[in-house]
Amino acid sequence: MALPGLLKPSFDQLSIALDLLQKCIEEDRRILIVGDFDADGATASVVAIKALRLMGAKYVDFLVPNRFKHGYGLSPEIVNEARRVLDRVNELCDLGLNFSEGLLGGASIDKYGVPYADETRALSAQADAILLGAVGGPKWDQLERSIRPERGLLAIRSELDLFSNLRPAITYPQLADASSLKPELVAGLDILIVRELTGGIYFGEPRGIRTLENGEREGYNTYKYSESEIERIGRNAFEMAMKRDKRLCSVDKANVLEATVLWREVMDRISSEYPEVELSHMYVDNAAMQLVRAPKQFDVMVTGNMFGDILSDAAAMLTGSIGMLPSASLDKNGRGMYEPCHGSAPDIAGQGIANPLATILSVAMMLRYSLDMAAAADKIEAAVSVVLDRGLRTGDIMGEGCRQVSTREMGDAVVDALR
Ligand code: IPM
Ligand code: MG
Repeated sequence: MALPGLLKPSFDQLSIALDLLQKCIEEDRRILIVGDFDADGATASVVAIKALRLMGAKYVDFLVPNRFKHGYGLSPEIVNEARRVLDRVNELCDLGLNFSEGLLGGASIDKYGVPYADETRALSAQADAILLGAVGGPKWDQLERSIRPERGLLAIRSELDLFSNLRPAITYPQLADASSLKPELVAGLDILIVRELTGGIYFGEPRGIRTLENGEREGYNTYKYSESEIERIGRNAFEMAMKRDKRLCSVDKANVLEATVLWREVMDRISSEYPEVELSHMYVDNAAMQLVRAPKQFDVMVTGNMFGDILSDAAAMLTGSIGMLPSASLDKNGRGMYEPCHGSAPDIAGQGIANPLATILSVAMMLRYSLDMAAAADKIEAAVSVVLDRGLRTGDIMGEGCRQVSTREMGDAVVDALR
């Protein structure tokens, strides 16, 4: 059902509209609010969504005009720059890559009404690798939980079985001063966090919010890991450690949570297959403390979905800015999705000031891990280093004596530095 735009509705018009809406709600119909996303439009829409909720509406969608169809986070800005870098390296190294573009998260909700539409599903099924911006934003916070942008991200991770999330935290020497820690604690830092991505409390059933007999509501989730889930992420982490400094720290909460007692047991068991790797265990609270106390003690860390989410944000900050950190999410064959570790930062979106380097470095990871094009990946990483050497910085990594540049200028500089 569509209601015509009523600029100054009369009492009668409003009351007809409300009756119609009430009827839709009773029939559990999906209600679509079409509005502009300027300040007034947003306020009016949020009020309308709230009112409809109070009236008992379960499904309320919000559609904005075409000019906003790319979403309301910084995703389009950073992905544009990454795409320009990818185009240049494609040409330079004659990689023969072909691209298609799909929507995920809020932009998809605006177009299709759901965060992960079949159109995007079909494109991702065909792709050898996926590059993703960032999802989420206040515009969609009022939506029913099951169709919020984040659900799209969780769905694509889960459906493509991207269980292995690699989150490197590397401090570029040029940025040691940008870290909130003393430069000597972070200079030369090179940690790899291997986060299990398709299990644990993020996906465990049962989950929900229920009403107890006394009328009080209770939220609940389930934290569980099967042996095979632990084994496959464990093997992955040991393999990564073999390619690095051969030290693996498994992070759990085995003093409290049974799911992680099993986690620890399985890690110990598979460690016998990798005698060269030194395995240690650490409780997650201690791991958080050690990360900010003496982060260089770590080489590879492996942990479950939720702990990995939290620890990787903390590790990111050690490097100066979360705006620098790429990530890879891989399936068992190495097919993967690549995304920056940071979120959609709606507070700075659209201003052209976001740091595109995490997404650009995600492109490098994509070339290396899924497409077997390590030489091209090296070129991108080298170009980023050159740009930092030249003193170009976005606001988040700005330091003394450097030149602050926009998202676009940073992208230009990396494209220019590709050799
Ligand atoms: C991340 C993000 C996501 C997560 C959110 C957006 C669902 O924080 O990739 O770290 O929690 O996994
Ligand atoms: Mg996170």
